[in-house]
This record gives sequence, structure tokens and C-alpha cells, in this order.
Amino acid sequence: MGVGIQVENLNAWYGSTHTLHDINLHIPANHATALIGPSGCGKSTFVRCLNRMHETNPIARATGVIKMGDLDIYKDASPVEIRRRVGMVFQRPNPFPTMSIYDNVASGLKLNGFRNRRILDETVERSLKQAALWEEVKDDLKKKSGASLSGGQQQRMCIARALAVDPEVLLMDEPASALDPVSTSKIEDLIFQLKSQYTIVIVTHNMQQAARVAENTGFFLNGKMVEFDSTHKIFTNPSDKRTEDYITGRFG
Ligand SMILES: Nc1ncnc2c1ncn2[C@@H]1O[C@H](COP(=O)(O)OP(=O)(O)O)[C@@H](O)[C@H]1O
Ligand SMILES: [Mg+2]
Repeated sequence: MGVGIQVENLNAWYGSTHTLHDINLHIPANHATALIGPSGCGKSTFVRCLNRMHETNPIARATGVIKMGDLDIYKDASPVEIRRRVGMVFQRPNPFPTMSIYDNVASGLKLNGFRNRRILDETVERSLKQAALWEEVKDDLKKKSGASLSGGQQQRMCIARALAVDPEVLLMDEPASALDPVSTSKIEDLIFQLKSQYTIVIVTHNMQQAARVAENTGFFLNGKMVEFDSTHKIFTNPSDKRTEDYITGRFG
């Protein structure tokens, strides 16, 4: 099941450049939350703080509190544990190119020490079904490499890989922006189904996509979160002039 995330006074830096300023928001469990805003406004930096990937950059730093349920992710758990519980899918599908489809999906489980063949088989099947890819690949699991799939299939395989380790939160950073329209709509359908079981945060440049999949939307500008509200409100009657200018296409 998904878990809610509470972000309190999050600030982030690269070297001396202050990139995120006092971000506060609540991301509800088992819903999809969209983050929109022009390039460079800090959306990716923000989601990387949510699974402690930001700190893997040696010049990067963050302050503030992020709680998953009651767990303070920077104090109460290791980065490895947080990255298992908060999965991530990137703009470009990133399969392990030399591995089979099966090994791609099982890779996180193996890293976490699972060796039991039956459990691995069951989890690979369950995850590929959840990612709506099973029917397309079930006969080629160990025959084909992950990199031999189409872009859209690779992205669904990467979603299966993230789901295999049983996360509570799934972060998706522009997961469909490198894909064709048909593959994009498959990813959107998938988000719609997955959000009953997981908490989903999706960064998107595509406002129709935010409107289709997410209950709530946050608008970022210059490292600040200008407005956070129901997606309907953001797109029909935003409170802030800057949000209105963005959604009506006046900039960005
Ligand atoms: N690895 C990095 N090193 C230094 N600056 C970075 C790095 N990644 C992002 N930034 C800077 O942080 C700001 C926010 O970037 P980012 O979070 O990628 O924005 P978005 O995802 O909204 O396009 C930008 O000014 C960008 O140049
Ligand atoms: Mg980005």
C-alpha cells in the first residue's frame, strides 16, 4: 500500500547555488500528484530529494524534513532502504542493456538478497503484469535483452523493475516525454491503475497528462512551489497569477 509524504521546509543546493526554497507540501497516499513548471525550476531536484538520490551528487545538499508516514526519511532509515521503498522511473528508460528482461526485472530483488527461484519467478510475473507488459514479453523473458524492446516497452519494464521490490511510493520524472503517443497513453493508463496501490508523484511537461492522471498538482517556478491544489482548481481557477500565466501558455 502507498504511504503519504509530508515535506517540511525543504531547501536544496548544488554547491553554493540555492535550488529549492522552503518547499512545504503533503502528498496524499494512494493518489497521483503531478508536478509542473518550466525547465530548470527544480522539479527533478525535488523528486530526487524524496528518495535520497539528491545526496548521491557530491556537491548537492538538502535541509528540511521529509516524512513517509511517521518515518523521517533522512533520520530513521538508510538511503538504500529509502530507495527500495521509494521507486523511481526516469525520462529515458534505463534498462541494464546486457541483461535479459527477466534479469532486469529481478535485479533489485537480487540486490536485496533474494535467491529463491520460485519467489523470483512469481515476482517477475506479478511485476510485469502490474506494468501491463507480461502478455508482450512472457515468451521471451530469458531470451531477449531488456534493451531489445521498444522504447515504450522498456519504460514499462523499468516500471516493473521498480515495482518488483515492493515500494510504497513511485516517483516518475517525465516518464512519457520520450515516448510516442500510443506508448504515452499506455503509461497514463498504467498510472491510473497503479495509484490505488501506490503513492505516485509524476513530473510532467504535459498539462493534459497532469489533468488526466493526477488528483493534485503542484506548480514550481524558480525553485519555489508557487501553488499546490486539486488539479481541477490549478487548471481552471488558479489562485496565483504566475500559475495562470503558465497554464495559459504565457511562458515556459
Ligand atoms: N547535477 C547538477 N549540478 C548543478 N546544478 C544542477 C544539477 N542538476 C540540476 N541543477 C540545476 O538546478 C536547477 C533545477 O534543475 P532541475 O531540478 O533539473 O529542474 P527541472 O527538473 O524542473 O527542469 C537548474 O538551475 C539546474 O541547472
Ligand atoms: Mg527535470
